[in-house]
Amino acid sequence: MNEQTLIDTARALVADDKGLLAMDESNPTCNKRFARLGIPQTEEARHAYRELIVTTPGLGESISGAILYDETIRQQIGGTPFAKALVEAGIIPGIKVDAGAKAMAAHAGEKITEGLDGLRGRLAEYKNMGARFAKWRAVIVIGDGLPSRSGLEANAHALARYAAMCQEAGLVPVVEPEVLMDGEHTLDLCLKVTEDALRNVFIQLNCQRVMLEGIILKPNMVLPGLSCPQQASVEEVADATVQCLLRTVPAAVPGIAFLSGGQTAELASARLNAMNVRFKSRLPWALAFSFARAIQQPALELWRGDEANVPAAQKALLHRARCNQAARRGEYTAAMETP
Ligand code: 13P
Repeated sequence: MNEQTLIDTARALVADDKGLLAMDESNPTCNKRFARLGIPQTEEARHAYRELIVTTPGLGESISGAILYDETIRQQIGGTPFAKALVEAGIIPGIKVDAGAKAMAAHAGEKITEGLDGLRGRLAEYKNMGARFAKWRAVIVIGDGLPSRSGLEANAHALARYAAMCQEAGLVPVVEPEVLMDGEHTLDLCLKVTEDALRNVFIQLNCQRVMLEGIILKPNMVLPGLSCPQQASVEEVADATVQCLLRTVPAAVPGIAFLSGGQTAELASARLNAMNVRFKSRLPWALAFSFARAIQQPALELWRGDEANVPAAQKALLHRARCNQAARRGEYTAAMETP
């Protein structure tokens, strides 16, 4: 393993106030989003949509890295593999390597992410295809008596095993423990559970000898549940999230890139912005983004599978990428949303 290469890649992923674009929806998830908009659920449509994203002019000015799905990294754009097309656009190619979150045995309501078996071989293959970083998502559900200690530990352990194998293969692991927004739980409970989850993750990362300077953490923001009657202000979310991260994330980690998790695109930008306005100058790590829905959704809704809508969709995609770059600088304003 070349440690310096990992460190350089991790730093590059959060440099220049850029962030990551997650475009690694599995086929079932991508198809579900297509179905809602009446887009055909075919390989051809998925290819056309991912081509639209990667060929957006100027995307590399605000996006540092893009996370691909297995199907996409094997596809080409006019004879050029997607990973190479990303590099030509100034974007570092990444790949989702987990096999999805499945029901956890003896843990009703909880999930465990699969995909460790055979991972070493798959990482080598993706590295050969041009990937420089990888992603693994663990899912943590807040509910009656959930999450359990054993659920948190098993998910943290899998994340750490994955991260160690990534670094062995020369890929920067994006470590994603996602506490879901679904439910009626309060902001305070989300803070408590996220803190517990992240503490477990860093215990396991240390046990598995993962070099913290060569990872990116991809957590949820600390939010009240979607059905919680008491919603929180942008500032309350920023304060709770940063408090949680300061308590749990070692200063050696170069960057924290949030998932959006079902927030609206505008709220995700506003909350990231508030964190950077209020805390940026005194934080040890960069606070960045690794959004899927909060970058893609407006573009997908404009595209709707119609070639004629590609320019409008690309414009919307670029707009969200730029809003989030502005949020990293603490310069995002609601005025940016009015054309
Ligand atoms: P969202 O930003 O849509 O939550 O997706 C991020 C992601 O990569 C989920 O694994």
